[in-house]
Amino acid sequence: MSALPSTYETTTLLDGVVSLGAHAFPQDALGDDTVVIKPDYIGICRADAKEILGSRDVMEDRGPLFGHELVGIVTFSGARTGFREGDLVTLNPNITPARTTGFAEYIFVHGTKEELDQAVVRVPEPDIRDDIWMPEPFACIVHALGKLLELADLPSLRGKRVGIIGAGCAGLMFAMYARHLGASVAVFNRGASRRAFAREQGILAEDEIFPLTAAGDHHDEFDIVIAAPTIATTEILEVAAGMANDGAVLFVYGGTRKGDTFPAGGADVDTIRRQERIESVEYAGKRLHVSGAYGCFKEDYEDGFRLHAEHPDEFPLERLTSGRIGLGDFPQLVMNVAAGKEDYPGKVLIKIAGHG
Ligand SMILES: NC(=O)c1ccc[n+]([C@@H]2O[C@H](COP(=O)([O-])OP(=O)(O)OC[C@H]3O[C@@H](n4cnc5c(N)ncnc54)[C@H](OP(=O)(O)O)[C@@H]3O)[C@@H](O)[C@H]2O)c1
Repeated sequence: MSALPSTYETTTLLDGVVSLGAHAFPQDALGDDTVVIKPDYIGICRADAKEILGSRDVMEDRGPLFGHELVGIVTFSGARTGFREGDLVTLNPNITPARTTGFAEYIFVHGTKEELDQAVVRVPEPDIRDDIWMPEPFACIVHALGKLLELADLPSLRGKRVGIIGAGCAGLMFAMYARHLGASVAVFNRGASRRAFAREQGILAEDEIFPLTAAGDHHDEFDIVIAAPTIATTEILEVAAGMANDGAVLFVYGGTRKGDTFPAGGADVDTIRRQERIESVEYAGKRLHVSGAYGCFKEDYEDGFRLHAEHPDEFPLERLTSGRIGLGDFPQLVMNVAAGKEDYPGKVLIKIAGHG
C-alpha cells in the first residue's frame, strides 16, 4: 500500500457554509469494499453552488453532488474492489451515496464490486493530467443527447436545427455534440461574458452564439430546443417553446424541482427530466414534445472518452477550463459564486498541490 498520511484536508458543507480543515485519515475506513482516490483536479459545478444555497433536490439513491467532478489516482483499493493502486480514474456520482466529498485531498468510495465498477470509471487518457478536462459533465451530455435521439425516435441529428439556451459548460458541450451528430446549432445566452468566452475559446463561431434577447428573432425556427440554464424556469421554457417549430422537441436539461410543470399545470417537467420521458403538450398553437435526461452511466463516460480521442477538434473539452485555483481558495470562491458575487464562464478547476 502506498504511504497514506495521518491527516488530510477535506471540506465540509454545513448550513450553507463551506469550510476546509485537516481531519484524521480514517484508517478504519480502508475496508475490502473501499476505493480511495487522490484527485489531481476537481471541477466546480453549478450543482455545488446550488447545494450551498439549498436550492437543489438531493436524490437519496446517489446523495449530494457537492464535489463530484474529479480526475485522480487510486491510492488504496480494497481486496474486493477490482481496482488497483495507480489506476487513473474519475467518478460517476449517480451510482451510490456511500462516498465522501470530492473537494478534498482524498475521496473514499464504498460499494460492492459491481457498484464500484460503475461508480469509479477508469480514464483511458494518461495525458488528461497535463491537459485536463472533466469527464463527468461531458458524460452527462453524451447520455442526454443519446436519450433525446432514443425518445424522439431519431436516427441522428443530421439536418436538424438545434437551438440551445445557455452557453454554460452544458450548453457548449451540447453544441459540440449536436454539431458532431450533424445538426446546425445556435446558442442563446443571457450574459455577454459567456458569449465572449465561447467565441474566444473557438468553441462557437460568430453565427452560432446570440444574446438570449435575440431568441424572439428566431421564432418557430428549431426542430429541437435544449434548455440548459442553471434553472429551467417557466420564463426560459416559454422562450424555448417560442423558438421551437410545430412538432419540435423541447429538451429540459437545466435544473427543475419537484412539482415544476410546463406549460403551467401541463407536463411534469421534473419527472420528465429525472425519469427521462417524453410527453406531448400544446403550446401557442404548436404541438411540442417535452423531454429531458438526468445523470449518466459508465458507458456514457466510455463514449465520451472515445469521442474526445477520435475527434479532438470537434470536442475541445480542455478549452472549457477558465481558471485554476488551490484547495485553500475554494471555500470562499464557491460561496461567492453561490451568492452571485463572482461568476466565471467555463469551468474553474481546483488543482490539488503536490498531486499529479
Ligand atoms: N440533466 C442532467 O443530467 C444535468 C447534469 C449536469 C447539469 N445539469 C444542469 O445544467 C445546468 C447548467 O449547468 P452548467 O454546467 O452549464 O452551468 P454553468 O456553466 O454555470 O452555466 C449556467 C448557465 O445558465 C445561465 N443562466 C443562469 N441564470 C439564468 C437566468 N436567470 N436566465 C437565463 N440564463 C441563466 C447562465 O447564463 P449567464 O451567462 O447569463 O449567467 C449560463 O449560461 C445546471 O445548473 C444543472 O441544473 C443537468
